[in-house]
Amino acid sequence: MGHTRGQRPVSAGRDEPGRARTRLVIRMNHRPRTEMDRSMTDPFAKLTHVGPGSPTGEFFRQFWLPIARSSEFEADGAPIRLMALGERLVGFRDSGGRMGIFDHRCPHRCASLFFGRNENGGLRCSYHGWMFDVEGRVTDIPSSAGGRVPTRVRAKAYSVRERNGLVWIYMGSRETPPPLPVIGVVADDEELEIQMWLRECNWLQGMEGDIDAAHLAFLHHGGHDPEDVGEHFVLKWVTSGRAVETKVVNTAGGTMEGHRRPESFAPDYWHYTQQLLPSWTIPGQNPFEVEEPVVRFWLPMDDTHSMIFQLSRPRALVDGRSAFHAGVAELPGVKVRMADLLQPNNDQDWYGRWRLTPSEENNYFLDRDAQAKGNYTGVQGIQIQDKMITESMGPVVDRTHEHLSASDLMVSRTRRRLLKAVDAYATTGDLPATLDDTELTRGLMAGGGHVPEGTDWLQYYRDVAEAAGADPRILESDLVEATEGVGA
Ligand code: FES
Ligand SMILES: [Fe+2]
Repeated sequence: MGHTRGQRPVSAGRDEPGRARTRLVIRMNHRPRTEMDRSMTDPFAKLTHVGPGSPTGEFFRQFWLPIARSSEFEADGAPIRLMALGERLVGFRDSGGRMGIFDHRCPHRCASLFFGRNENGGLRCSYHGWMFDVEGRVTDIPSSAGGRVPTRVRAKAYSVRERNGLVWIYMGSRETPPPLPVIGVVADDEELEIQMWLRECNWLQGMEGDIDAAHLAFLHHGGHDPEDVGEHFVLKWVTSGRAVETKVVNTAGGTMEGHRRPESFAPDYWHYTQQLLPSWTIPGQNPFEVEEPVVRFWLPMDDTHSMIFQLSRPRALVDGRSAFHAGVAELPGVKVRMADLLQPNNDQDWYGRWRLTPSEENNYFLDRDAQAKGNYTGVQGIQIQDKMITESMGPVVDRTHEHLSASDLMVSRTRRRLLKAVDAYATTGDLPATLDDTELTRGLMAGGGHVPEGTDWLQYYRDVAEAAGADPRILESDLVEATEGVGA
């Protein structure tokens, strides 16, 4: 029988001379950590598994998930490989313009439908020619003489919708799916500016970068001083006070963080960031009054690959860059056009779509000279810096090695909020109110403002949000101010 990690077994050799004992201890300490060990010691390991049947995977499946952009698919065009929650899928647009997304395995003998023919109102498997409509129904079996078209056999087709220029998939258990979500600018029929990038690591460590206020003043702007950033208020605030004071509340659908920079030139300025279940973030960049904030979604493709969706109104981009950085593009490390970094011919494997050229293999084009001259990382581009740092943790970070500090409060609280929601669904079938009541999240805001003296940070957010017409119930359900420690 084995023993628990870290617990020394009672050994016949324990009274032997020191050499034998030392050898035993060294071997134990260097035993490779197994997945079983991790799940016993890392309370958040559960959140990193998304495949069918896993608690977190089943939780994710109850939500509509963006999976692609509508413009990737042409009527009768080539089928495209897609991945979501550990499942290999194939997407296509039929002759009539309708989208279908299937398990990629043909229900006849499991050949991949990626190699199929998209023609005449359906997808035809190229092995024996079976034909499927977008609902997965078999419409033709040309390979069996006199064979009837069976009604029982179907390709495994998921519910699909299109809105905002996005293709959405529902992989959940309800016969009638919930409504499509409404999250800030991701609403109604508004066509959005969509940017997508593959991130080669687990979704959770990627998403945690969006809600980590502390890293901005280091990873992205550690090499910049207040005098380098001109009239850019937020960057002046960030670079003049690098330490943050952070508070977090649970909301009806996730977590909200507020932080200030007590040593900065504007210590009364608070910035607010939202996380919404399962994996939405509104990091916010500017003061509340400046622009509609960018909304991001992290699609877990499998446990070790994620697709980032960055969604904004078109005016949030200037010359292909975020408006936030457009005025300071000449700062070392900032200037990059993400479109120039996408790999060409990127549809040839399961992880090929929206893949970037800077990667672990080329050290993200790390330039040590640049690192010595004002680019804190030596890596060019804000998104690439985020990619480099979260992928450097390994495909799935082993959180038993972490030591969180006060600035990690939002990361820690969001993990707990997720775990609570996943466990609630697994045990009682309960899901967050925001899944069915989309009005709760319509006016969700991220951004910042000067909190008047004597006003509580949360009251200030409530005042700003209500003035903008946001639904106040988002803060009135499950409201817990989280000011204590960051441990698990
Ligand atoms: S495997 Fe697809 S038609 Fe036979
Ligand atoms: Fe970042």
